[in-house]
Amino acid sequence: MKQLQTRLTLIIFGIFFTGWIICGLSIWGLEYNGARKDIIRKAVLLLDTAAATRDYTSTQIQPQFDLLTQDKSRENVLNLADKNQEVPEFNKVTVPSYAAQQILNQLGKTKENKGYTYREAAINPTNRKDLALGWEVEIIEYFAKNPNIKEKIGERLDLISGEKTLYMAKPIQITKSSCLVCHGKPENAPPSLIKTYGSENGFGWKLNEIVGTRIISVPTVVQYQEAQKSVGSYLLAIASVFLIAYTTVLLIIQKWITKPLDTITQLLEEISLHQLERSQLPEDKSNSLSPLNKAINRLLISLNKALEADKK
Ligand code: HEC
Repeated sequence: MKQLQTRLTLIIFGIFFTGWIICGLSIWGLEYNGARKDIIRKAVLLLDTAAATRDYTSTQIQPQFDLLTQDKSRENVLNLADKNQEVPEFNKVTVPSYAAQQILNQLGKTKENKGYTYREAAINPTNRKDLALGWEVEIIEYFAKNPNIKEKIGERLDLISGEKTLYMAKPIQITKSSCLVCHGKPENAPPSLIKTYGSENGFGWKLNEIVGTRIISVPTVVQYQEAQKSVGSYLLAIASVFLIAYTTVLLIIQKWITKPLDTITQLLEEISLHQLERSQLPEDKSNSLSPLNKAINRLLISLNKALEADKK
């Protein structure tokens, strides 16, 4: 009986573990995809927020400062020169790119959004901090080669924070000639811009050219850890249900099959040793093998009678 039980246990556990691993893998697939979709949804929202900030700055803030008309005019510069006044520093709060980066990176400083970063990287930037790094240059070149592709999503290890991040990048294309006031020829640019940034960088951009990329990076660790945790709890729940079912079945088998069969075996052994007199099997209704017991008891009575007749 013990051997049968061990075999049964091995088979059942084998089936369970295979099923369990398959379940684990498919739940992980679902959870991972869900988490990734969540991160992408967040990245899209943030990238759209950055675009909205850019629009707001160029349509509402810039006209207020009236930067392009007043500051740029040569007359103004001459007037300033006449009055021996210095050209003021460039007021970058009106620059759409600056506003978007400021706001989004401010968001990355909050506890809930820690590690989020937003960059507007260019091959030839006005501000050297926006110079595209190796992997960003690759993205910009990719967009330049494939003008129809409007976004690129990937995962990478951020070497500065040491965290795995998902990034979403979109190309920056010069679609308005108004951009070229400050990014076209240095001689057309506001003097204050030249004063602050020099005339070397961020010029010579052309209409319709893809000059850079806007990239939002979102850390993935927390989301993937949560996905792992829920896979863990699913697997634990499945294992608990299995163990409860297995133990119950085992107890039932022991009580209703193994034990009665053991009693029968014992009895048959006694008979084989010719100890027939007191041998009877229990016939109570709770015994699942009671019909068998009854039959054996009847057989024993007949056998006893036959033996006794023989003795006479
Ligand atoms: C008033 C001048 C001005 C105008 C107009 C302007 N920019 Fe800029 N832009 C700047 C300055 C200054 C910076 C650097 C800001 C900083 O310090 O972060 C900049 C930065 C950028 C950057 C980030 C990379 C870099 O060069 O540092 C991008 C991309 C960019 N601008 C694109 C545009 C586009 C597209 C337009 C038209 C929609 C535009 N700019 C219009 C002045 C301007």
